[in-house]
Amino acid sequence: MRNFVLGIVVTILVLLIGSLGLALLGFLPTRANTTPPAMESRIAMSAMDSSVERHAPRVNNPVPPTDENLIEGVKIYTMNCALCHGGIDRQASPLASSFYPPPPSLLVDPPDDPEWHLYYVIRNGVRYTGMPAWDKALSETDIWKVTALLTRLNKLPPAVQTYWKNASGVDAPSAPADHGHK
Ligand code: HEC
Repeated sequence: MRNFVLGIVVTILVLLIGSLGLALLGFLPTRANTTPPAMESRIAMSAMDSSVERHAPRVNNPVPPTDENLIEGVKIYTMNCALCHGGIDRQASPLASSFYPPPPSLLVDPPDDPEWHLYYVIRNGVRYTGMPAWDKALSETDIWKVTALLTRLNKLPPAVQTYWKNASGVDAPSAPADHGHK
């Protein structure tokens, strides 16, 4: 029994030191301008979702989704998020395939997570990816405003759609011209 346990411990140590050795000898790729394999993306996504499920407090958005706050959300998004996640004209970001993993096009393919989930991700960032933690760069209120926007992309009130159209030149996601386009 003792030898069996010792065997397991030694095997684990050899694997750990082996992987560390391979990394230090330069066998791990560092390029960001390649696409992650589908299997890697799937595992990473599930792990990330489970981690958020485990860690994120179930809080309600304290900022009401008024026209004014949602329009603020559009401005905050344009100034801070569009560079990576794509602009409100819904053209792909020039950096869309320059990260590993790549930033999702949040406006073209809106996230269907609850607000507490998005707020946690935006506020705290995503480790080992290009997604920054915004807690030091944006106020809590501004993080909630952009969260409110991202959870309502397909049902924006008319005043916000009008603002969107004037600011971007294209219809907001829920506008009639978008019908049939998923
Ligand atoms: C420097 C590039 C960059 C900027 C700027 C940036 N992000 Fe991200 N973001 C990323 C990357 C890369 C990911 C993918 C992380 C991953 O795969 O887990 C990501 C992921 C996310 C996700 C998770 C999406 C999902 O489906 O789980 C949300 C939500 C998000 N970003 C919101 C924002 C918001 C809101 C802003 C602006 C306040 C912002 N991001 C600014 C790079 C960026």
